[in-house]
Amino acid sequence: MDKVAWGVLSTAKIAVTKVIPALQRSERCRVVAIASRDGERARAAAERLGIPRVHDSYEALLADPNVEVVYNPLPNHLHVPWTIRAAEAGKHVLCEKPIALTAEQAKELLDVRDRTGVRIQEAFMVRTHPQWLKARELVRSGAIGELRAVQGFFSYFNVDPGNIRNQAGIGGGGLLDIGCYPVTLSRFMTGQEPDRVLALIDRDPEMGIDRLGSAILVFGSVQASFVYSTQLVAFQRMRFFGTGGHLEVEIPFNAPPDRPCRLLLDRKGGIFGDAAETMELPVCDQYAVAGDAFSTALRDGAPQPIPLEDAILNMRVIDALFRSAESGGWEKP
Ligand SMILES: NC(=O)c1ccc[n+]([C@@H]2O[C@H](COP(=O)([O-])OP(=O)(O)OC[C@H]3O[C@@H](n4cnc5c(N)ncnc54)[C@H](OP(=O)(O)O)[C@@H]3O)[C@@H](O)[C@H]2O)c1
Repeated sequence: MDKVAWGVLSTAKIAVTKVIPALQRSERCRVVAIASRDGERARAAAERLGIPRVHDSYEALLADPNVEVVYNPLPNHLHVPWTIRAAEAGKHVLCEKPIALTAEQAKELLDVRDRTGVRIQEAFMVRTHPQWLKARELVRSGAIGELRAVQGFFSYFNVDPGNIRNQAGIGGGGLLDIGCYPVTLSRFMTGQEPDRVLALIDRDPEMGIDRLGSAILVFGSVQASFVYSTQLVAFQRMRFFGTGGHLEVEIPFNAPPDRPCRLLLDRKGGIFGDAAETMELPVCDQYAVAGDAFSTALRDGAPQPIPLEDAILNMRVIDALFRSAESGGWEKP
């Protein structure tokens, strides 16, 4: 298969440090162009990363006939506007998470997709990582009995007011940045949408962003809960508890590209966890896997790994969590 030609909107940190190098090492993608609001910045990044085409504006990259797919890692408030512009220029789009600020805004993408015939996908790379496919297979095959509880945690410490995550006006805050991961993965693992959700949110008094949150999502008989924070020691874990065992995904979100990921499966239980068996997954780069999966869907005309409709459903849950934090009560997504 000839490789799919990717163009990158901006010199975002995630693009230049993780996604571009991964796409360049992947089997089905090549990075042909990069753009920045600042031409010099784009040129420097292109030189450093060996990208052949450079554009002084995002518009110029969208007009480049050599680009088939646009990767959109702009700040959250620009996800929908630039994804729409890319689609209207005839480009497929892999857009960073969260795909929008609200479900209402995300829904605008449906029309554009249907009108232009391009593919649009949210870049939740975790959802194509083999460790998550394996975790889902184990839980669905009954390895821990009947799944009844999910527990997640995702935190880091960042109080830099210049960071996009700390700017309330452009879609900053912890739920949109990292709380969205346990939301998508609880939905992925249960294969359901939550009936109702509850959230408690603490905001940074100066920056206004949500810096600590706790959430409960009820999926029929399964209770999923998670804590996220942008101002706590860095940590991440997800655990799944069943009637006959439990499963831990050790590095659930920032899976390392240079060493095996581990799943800890305990089929018996016991407070010391000494019955747990450790499963190591072959080393892989989740950004390369995600890029290849999207490219394969484009070339083969196969279904994309995460449909746009799924991204809208995820935003509906996030909206409901924000509503619950305001109302103090249960909300339906
Ligand atoms: N999937 C993942 O693992 C993952 C990890 C980290 C981040 N992300 C997502 O990726 C996106 C970017 O995150 P990041 O940490 O890489 O951000 P970042 O380094 O701040 O990059 C954002 C880029 O957007 C461009 N930009 C355009 N308008 C801007 C504005 N008004 N303010 C700031 N930048 C503006 C800038 O590029 P130019 O100056 O070159 O135009 C900037 O470098 C976010 O949506 C985040 O949620 C995903």
